Amino acid sequence: KRLLPLFAGLVLLLSACGREDLSALRPQGPVAQGQFDLMKLSIAIMIVVLLIVFGIAAYVWVRFRRRPGQTDIPEQVEGNFKLEVLWTVIPLVLVLILGVATVQKVFSYGENYWNDKNAVKVKVTSHQFWWEFNYPDYGVTTAQDLVIPTGKKIAFQLKTADVLHSFWVPSLAGKTDTNPEGAINNAWFTADKEGVYLGKCAELCGQSHGLMEFKVKAVSQASFDSWVKAMKEPVAMPEDKATAEVFKNQCLTCHAIGSEGGPSAPNLTGIGGRESVASILINGTDGTAKENLKTWLEDPQAVKPGNKMPNPKKDLKLTDEQIDAIADYLANSKLKTQ
Ligand code: CUA
Repeated sequence: KRLLPLFAGLVLLLSACGREDLSALRPQGPVAQGQFDLMKLSIAIMIVVLLIVFGIAAYVWVRFRRRPGQTDIPEQVEGNFKLEVLWTVIPLVLVLILGVATVQKVFSYGENYWNDKNAVKVKVTSHQFWWEFNYPDYGVTTAQDLVIPTGKKIAFQLKTADVLHSFWVPSLAGKTDTNPEGAINNAWFTADKEGVYLGKCAELCGQSHGLMEFKVKAVSQASFDSWVKAMKEPVAMPEDKATAEVFKNQCLTCHAIGSEGGPSAPNLTGIGGRESVASILINGTDGTAKENLKTWLEDPQAVKPGNKMPNPKKDLKLTDEQIDAIADYLANSKLKTQ
């Protein structure tokens, strides 16, 4: 009884975790819907079993209770063939129902639509602690914001650049592990409605595993097409020559922006219009993009411990003015459509 308030508290606490954009219980596409149906099926079966078992137990407690004055031992029964067959066959049937439904869903979500002409292909590469999205048909690479058209099958090929991670967008589909190259996983999902859905890494992968988030931006086909077009436009470098120099020599050795730079860090094209920066900082909408970028640049380890970015101040010897100028440039580096 003493545990009851604790238990109630825990339930309250967990229910507060429910986020609209991060819930497998609010499916926003056919894959997640199928998985949600599976949850409902298994819970329905559990409830029926629970009610029957508890019902019988309650009946037995009452019907065969010791009555006043009763001293003899009740009739002893040993074994009942019919009952034993019954309680073996019923669970077997229930497990079969659950098993068949689950296996169907598992195979349907693992279906490979990579060669489906109508599917939008995305190569997902996980990194400690960020996500890379490459659209091979469009020659576009981006990070953190996965932009997709609604109503279309999005076919994924998933791998990791370092350790195991797991790609998970609860409102759209279950988890898919990312393995080292050579063990590429396939998955797919469809978003029915426009919206921003939160994605998470679902495999313990290091210090900042809990911060390894990404966003799925589901937009209309027309907006998707113009996004692709905008991603391929040339990107302006910082206007100030000195800032452009620092940006090219320090940032673009790892990061890419437009057609310039390297592939080993998150692609920065259109970063000023992204939903988030460094996975966790909300960007743009409230005009705090620059401040957030500065927080990140001033001490990346403080924001996301264990990440591989060198410290701009200590390692790259950037001054406060240079960091401010680069944060300003990045915050205003938006796609033509934004
Ligand atoms: Cu990546 Cu956890």
